[in-house]
Amino acid sequence: MLFKSLLLALAYITASNIAAPIFRREVPQEHSHENILILMRDAIALGSNPQNIGDPVFGLLGDAAAAGGLGDTSDVECLQQNTADLAFTNAKTSGNVTLMTAALVYRALERNTGSVGLQSNACTSTTATNPEIAAISQHQDPASTGAAATNKAIVLTLAQQIASIGGDPLQALQSGTFAPGTIGDPTAAGNTCDNIVNEGCINADNKLVDDATSAEIEAAVSGKASGATATVTAAAKVATNSVDAASCPAPVTVTVTGAATAAASSTPSPGQNLQTFSGNLGGSLPPAVTAGGRGFVVAGQTGDSFVNLSAALQRSCSVQNNACADAANSGAAQGVSVGDCNAQETQCNAA
Ligand SMILES: *[C@@H]1O[C@H](CO)[C@@H](O)[C@H](O)[C@H]1NC(C)=O
Ligand SMILES: *[C@@H]1O[C@H](CO)[C@@H](O)[C@H](O)[C@H]1NC(C)=O
Repeated sequence: MLFKSLLLALAYITASNIAAPIFRREVPQEHSHENILILMRDAIALGSNPQNIGDPVFGLLGDAAAAGGLGDTSDVECLQQNTADLAFTNAKTSGNVTLMTAALVYRALERNTGSVGLQSNACTSTTATNPEIAAISQHQDPASTGAAATNKAIVLTLAQQIASIGGDPLQALQSGTFAPGTIGDPTAAGNTCDNIVNEGCINADNKLVDDATSAEIEAAVSGKASGATATVTAAAKVATNSVDAASCPAPVTVTVTGAATAAASSTPSPGQNLQTFSGNLGGSLPPAVTAGGRGFVVAGQTGDSFVNLSAALQRSCSVQNNACADAANSGAAQGVSVGDCNAQETQCNAA
């Protein structure tokens, strides 16, 4: 079938040449969750906007287009976080839990990237002023490596944050994205929608894929309640050893390892992600580590919890390393070698 192969190769070359600009165009979906954008606008309008941040839709656009909403800020990769932070602050000042919840959900929405399967980078240049916002990262393209686990971890962390402000944790599911598109899809359209309807076209068209079951969300939220106490108590033990015995609550029964001592030196808020490593070589952050289960849980590692924070953090770094190696081997992460991934794991373990 030499002739057929030749024909296919020719067709491929022709298609690549002609379609090259289409391969690189953005997959538009910034209006898919218009319901959240509408609430975001309400939240922002409740107070001042000292950095003159633009409409919340900008934070969901790809890097080049997002620049239009930067206002006095400078990092397109942090615009979504900073917009969410502004909305949360204003909603919190007004005591509006609906709008605070919308700001948390908005922080977790997927951003546009240049092609199906391409992940958006983490915001690394600034930290949100609200720890609830700082704990959350955005959904990743469902066709990208490890996306199901990554996105589930994001939704469970989001649910914990929503619960911590007195909202309905099941609303975390609203941040879900579409079914995966096909890598190399010449239309680059994925399974998205982008028409503007008040309820969000992802809801109107029934295209939203739940990242977790309600049982998983309830488990994550109740794990937070008991586990967070253990973490805070561990932190208090550190304080007793070195600083201020007067501020120490009830006796401590949690075993604190060396790494736990270091990581717990500032008191984590409930549901806080205790994994602080922010490297994302290969396109994946290490999954969140939160208080829960027997002590600590690693997002995406269902049915497995850890007594020691150090062990949980190590597992999180290892999950990231696997995702990175998969991306390196599959060619999804161009210019990244498995050795680079291993070096990142060393940095992650040292963080
Ligand atoms: C919160 O904000 C929403 C949307 O703007 C509004 O409909 C609702 O009345 C507000 N709730 C309170 C308690 O102010
Ligand atoms: C957890 O910490 C305790 C006390 O330091 C240690 O004995 C135990 O081996 C650790 N467990 C794991 C799984 O690292």
